[in-house]
Amino acid sequence: PSLPLYIYDSIGSTNDEAKRLITNEKPPVVIFAEHQTQGKGRRGREWLSPFAQNLCFSYVWPVTQGLNQVDGLSLVVGLAVAKAIKQVSGVEAKLKWPNDVLVDGRKVAGILLELVGAPLEQWSVIIGIGVNLNMHDSFGGIDQDWTSLAKETGGVIDREKFALVLLEELQAYLDKQQHYGFESMRAEWLEMHAWQNKKVVLQVGNDAVSGELVGVGEKGEVCLLVEGEERKYLGGELSLRLH
Ligand code: ATP
Ligand code: BTN
Repeated sequence: PSLPLYIYDSIGSTNDEAKRLITNEKPPVVIFAEHQTQGKGRRGREWLSPFAQNLCFSYVWPVTQGLNQVDGLSLVVGLAVAKAIKQVSGVEAKLKWPNDVLVDGRKVAGILLELVGAPLEQWSVIIGIGVNLNMHDSFGGIDQDWTSLAKETGGVIDREKFALVLLEELQAYLDKQQHYGFESMRAEWLEMHAWQNKKVVLQVGNDAVSGELVGVGEKGEVCLLVEGEERKYLGGELSLRLH
């Protein structure tokens, strides 16, 4: 299916631009930027990406069937990104709950979802995706281990091809999400789970919970085994690290 596409050279954040655009345009709509001056991660962190080397975009997805359409969405988007990575580069990516895509433990892509209310009388989710394609070590400033598909393969990644493949995967997975929900993709997600059965610490606000990461629930909750008891957690403020 065709959809409206905006491409900017430089912009603050494609997620923020998406919020502005949908005050007078009905989703779905896609916004790409070659460079962001205020690229965002979760909880006020920054997303850094050099001009015209990676992929930074936002896909605005209309929520047509109530807010449980959003359950597990960041995990489903992660699946689409990992599939596109495999298809274009052959690299096997893994998924870290809830929103990171890793190769050998290093971050290659991030996902930022923002739910926005309803200027045109419906909810939308702004699905922000950043994928490191051709970024090299000379790019400084990122304060955690990262990689790019160029680093992993030793070649140059065709950005237009990657964008097309990812948009196709994304539309296919969003379609499945809309019709059958995350539960229908849970087993597939678990096959790509980076930290299955690892000992982890989950940051929940000011509290830290230690346990074994035993899987994800039907709404995309993270499931920890804590002192012999299974606990499920869901929400945007949670953060996992290895014990
Ligand atoms: P969490 O598990 O809580 O999501 P996180 O450290 O991955 O932890 P995010 O908010 O998801 O945090 O991502 C933002 C972080 O990603 C930044 O603080 C920075 O460390 C890192 N980062 C920024 N730009 C890039 C990039 N292009 N590639 C990889 N990592 C990046
Ligand atoms: C994360 O790992 O915390 C999420 C990173 C998301 C980055 C993308 S790049 C396109 C979109 N615009 C933003 O400002 N952030 C997302």
